[in-house]
This record gives sequence, structure tokens and C-alpha cells, in this order.
Amino acid sequence: MMNTQNIVEQVTFLFRQFGNETYGEGMSVLSHSVQSAEIAEASGLDDELVMAALLHDIGHIYPLAKDEHVEMMDLFGTRHHEDIAKSFLGSYFLPERLIEPIAMHVDAKRYLCAADQNYINDLSEASRTTLMYQGGPMNEEEQHAFKNHEFFNEAIEIRKIDDAAKQENYFVGDSKLNYWMWRLEEYIASLKTIS
Ligand SMILES: [Fe+2]
Ligand SMILES: [Fe+2]
Repeated sequence: MMNTQNIVEQVTFLFRQFGNETYGEGMSVLSHSVQSAEIAEASGLDDELVMAALLHDIGHIYPLAKDEHVEMMDLFGTRHHEDIAKSFLGSYFLPERLIEPIAMHVDAKRYLCAADQNYINDLSEASRTTLMYQGGPMNEEEQHAFKNHEFFNEAIEIRKIDDAAKQENYFVGDSKLNYWMWRLEEYIASLKTIS
């Protein structure tokens, strides 16, 4: 059973109340999330992955609503925010193809740091700092397992979008937020139709 209205309301609430939080980079979670969705769309990805891009960092702000104590990585955001996102989105029974790339977006960085020499150099300062907390580059065994994951390609796509969505002073006002919440609503409605 899909709890349709609740997820749209919940995500809207989180972005409105806590979207202005930053996570160590020169932009808010909301700005970074919307930039991610826009890049995903401009890259021609389908709605499921556009929504994955939009929601990939929701785990940074979800705990604020819950008032839960979260372990912080310096000032660089919530530790294990990818797992928090997975359990939050999983509670709404969203498709695995949306949830898994989000759950994998930190490991995708660890994978790319190991597999692609240029990747580390191009990472943002904050991303390089958090890498240490996240376990550093993957070893060979981890890379092998990661590469064989069903949603490997999607996870890499989301990670690259994540890294590209770091324009500072990219303002997201009400109308842009409303637009993206409407897109989420449409997406959720489309799931209901096919299931
Ligand atoms: Fe993230
Ligand atoms: Fe991100």
C-alpha cells in the first residue's frame, strides 16, 4: 500500500523547514537537491532517477525533524545519511531503482575514488574530507562487489550528478520548490497507476 500523500507532504515539510541547512559546502541542502534534479533531467534521465537525484540527500535533514541525536562528521553533514534516506524512503515502499542508488551514493564515491584516478582530484573540498569518515577509497574486493550490484550504473549516474550539483548561490525560491514537489507528486501518482 502506497502512502501517497504523506511522502509528498513529508518531503515538502523537510525541504521547507530544514532545506536551508548547509552541509559544509557553500550551498543549502535544498539548493543542492534541486540542482541535482535539474542536472538529472537535463541529462535525459527518466523520472525515477530524477527523483533519486532530488531526494539523494534527504537523509541530511530528515533527522532534524525527528530531533534525533545524530553523529556529525565535523560540520560536513550527517553520518550515514544514505542509510537514513534508505529507511525513510523505504517506509513509503518506493521502487528499489530509486532507493538503491541513493543508498549507494556514498559508496559510489568510494568506488570512483578507487577506480578513477582523476575523480579524487576533482572532488570538492567537503567531499574529500568526508571520504575519510566514509571509509576511504574501496579496496578491490569492495569494488568487485559494488560493480556487480544490480543498480551499479544508476548509482554512478547519481553520484556524478551529485558532484556536479555544487553551484554556490543557486537560489531556490518557493515557486521552484513548489514545482519540484509537484513533480514528486506526479511521480508518486504514476506509481500508484501501474501497481
Ligand atoms: Fe550525500
Ligand atoms: Fe549530495
